[in-house]
Amino acid sequence: MFHKILLKWYLENKRFLPWRETSNPYYIWISEIILQQTKIEQGLSYYEKFVSSFPEVENLANADEETILKMWQGLGYYSRARNLHFSAKYIVNELNSNFPNTYKEIIKLKGVGDYTASAIASICFDEKTAVVDGNVYRVLARYLGIYTPINSTKGIKYFKEVAQSLLCKENPGTYNQAIMDFGAIQCKPKNPLCDSCPFNDSCVALAENKISVLPVKEKKTKISKKHFNYIIPINPKNQTIFEKRTSKGIWLNMYQFPLWESKNEIFEDTFEPKSILENYNLTIDSVSLFNQEPIVHKLSHQHIYTKFWILNTYDSNKNFQNWDEIHQYPVPILIHNFIKEFEQKRIFSTFDTK
Ligand code: ADE
Repeated sequence: MFHKILLKWYLENKRFLPWRETSNPYYIWISEIILQQTKIEQGLSYYEKFVSSFPEVENLANADEETILKMWQGLGYYSRARNLHFSAKYIVNELNSNFPNTYKEIIKLKGVGDYTASAIASICFDEKTAVVDGNVYRVLARYLGIYTPINSTKGIKYFKEVAQSLLCKENPGTYNQAIMDFGAIQCKPKNPLCDSCPFNDSCVALAENKISVLPVKEKKTKISKKHFNYIIPINPKNQTIFEKRTSKGIWLNMYQFPLWESKNEIFEDTFEPKSILENYNLTIDSVSLFNQEPIVHKLSHQHIYTKFWILNTYDSNKNFQNWDEIHQYPVPILIHNFIKEFEQKRIFSTFDTK
């Protein structure tokens, strides 16, 4: 039986993770949201920070969004943090602080999809609902030799059915965590440990030498390329302009320097941020490009090519604030890294600002 072998493997190989010491759905929810697009090693310290700062759902609901985004800084995909906050408020205000206790109710929370609802419902409430994450797709595709693309509508439906049919009905929560750990540790994407695998006598992909081909993924999203030019005004009082990003999409409500998004890459001789100068009432004294090569920030469906332009100016208007104040705000990692590097270069005076 698939689940018996898997559970035996899990007993011998499972990872010790802080959220495995609890069945409090609020904590499991936080851990699963953090782990949605994040590796366990990276997510651990964020989980610890979140549960110690917000030990009860009320603490999270009452926190302000900026504090939460600041704490999330570096994890990326910030809509996860905004949804977490939104749902905490919903649980407190609409559900009397009681965490929903069925798959059907849990999936109604903003930011919770089939995977997360299945994980919480099975781990905390023993509901017989199978999780399907990247690990599960890989294990099932290889073990059973399934070639249906995992990101096709048909594949999503089919893999969920297969996962459900293999689920251990006595221990759904443990089984779900076992198959994910098995995918992460044994049936790894690259160089899986087939020699020591307990399924190596029954795995279809291994028998047919198709391990490296499975799972199959449909190429569909075309990755778009964007050019971001951040304009960093600096005046003799060491003031700059820093503002909240209010446009929809990535980095909503995080902070940034004035942004000029251009169609093509901008060079010194094509640097003409006309609308920025108008919008912020700025006049240029001198300009220097901080990074000659654009910094590439890769997201799942877009690659952002970024240049930082230092704009020396004698202006000081209501848009300006002291440079030191900008550290308190939540920022994308791209901006965080720039600020750090820029400050370091200024200390050692290798970068020319007046
Ligand atoms: N990845 C995300 N959540 C997990 C869990 N609960 N166990 C193992 N891997 C995971």
